[in-house]
Amino acid sequence: MKIAHFSDVHFTRKPGEFPLRDLMSKRGMGWLNLTVRRRYKRFVAVAQVVGAFLRDLQVVKPDLILFTGDLTAVAYPQEFEAAAEAFLDLRKRTDVLGVPGNHDVYVRKANGEQLFADLFGNWLRSDCPDHSGENFPLPAVRLLGDEVAVVAVPSARPCKLADSSGFIGEERLKAVEKTLKEPDIAGRRVILALHYGFFLENGKPDKKSHGLRDADELLEVAKNNGVDLIVHGHIHERFVHQVGEITPVAIANAGSLTDKKFSRSFHVIESTDNGFDLRVRRYDETLNQFVSWLGAPGSSVIPFAALPIS
Ligand SMILES: [Fe+2]
Ligand SMILES: [Fe+2]
Repeated sequence: MKIAHFSDVHFTRKPGEFPLRDLMSKRGMGWLNLTVRRRYKRFVAVAQVVGAFLRDLQVVKPDLILFTGDLTAVAYPQEFEAAAEAFLDLRKRTDVLGVPGNHDVYVRKANGEQLFADLFGNWLRSDCPDHSGENFPLPAVRLLGDEVAVVAVPSARPCKLADSSGFIGEERLKAVEKTLKEPDIAGRRVILALHYGFFLENGKPDKKSHGLRDADELLEVAKNNGVDLIVHGHIHERFVHQVGEITPVAIANAGSLTDKKFSRSFHVIESTDNGFDLRVRRYDETLNQFVSWLGAPGSSVIPFAALPIS
């Protein structure tokens, strides 16, 4: 089973196109990031890179395409529409699993979670019963053959100014635990996917204002319920923490597909007899295509954490 994992695409609009009235909200902070901190320039080629990514999927031929959030910059409907147009074919397909990131739910009034569900509803489809009681299945699960299950957990919520932290919450944590104990999942190798990371590349926990507030609780649930690999985005520079490096569960951050400040890459994760074989594909601007990144840090077999519970 082969999974293509990408994250943090960040479709946006030109800074001059922001309506003035929106600059008085948290979107003003987003506008400052795009202009003063020159973030817009980092994502100016987003449509071109996404085009190359879509062509590359035809080469990689994954069984599942996994997305872990941040389609947009400040959750404007126009940004969602640009993403929806770029991912027109992927939105119709049933082999894509995806959850929103914090930029997709940037301000409460934008109701980005609903916009995401309206335009990318296929990505939230679940193969398992819903234990959340919410509008759409949380977590959303995909069962791949007899071997692998991918469990995707929404972790983003609208935050106050200068706060971009995530939170799962007690109810969703209970739903995650219950889902991981489902007989269909407990007998398989399990990948837990979410937007937020647990640790930075240097192994230290992420900042309170940028990380997942209940990271410890989710990690405990993952460790105790047979999760073999945690994958995420949010931190735009990709990295991998192998089994036992920080926790008994390996963690692979795909980074950003489109952020020019970093490697513009995605992960290809294939299940083997011994573990998940992780490879990296990186965008080559000259060729305008993704190519294999041989020797990328962390590209190797990630041994399974333990025998599956069956
Ligand atoms: Fe991001
Ligand atoms: Fe993010």
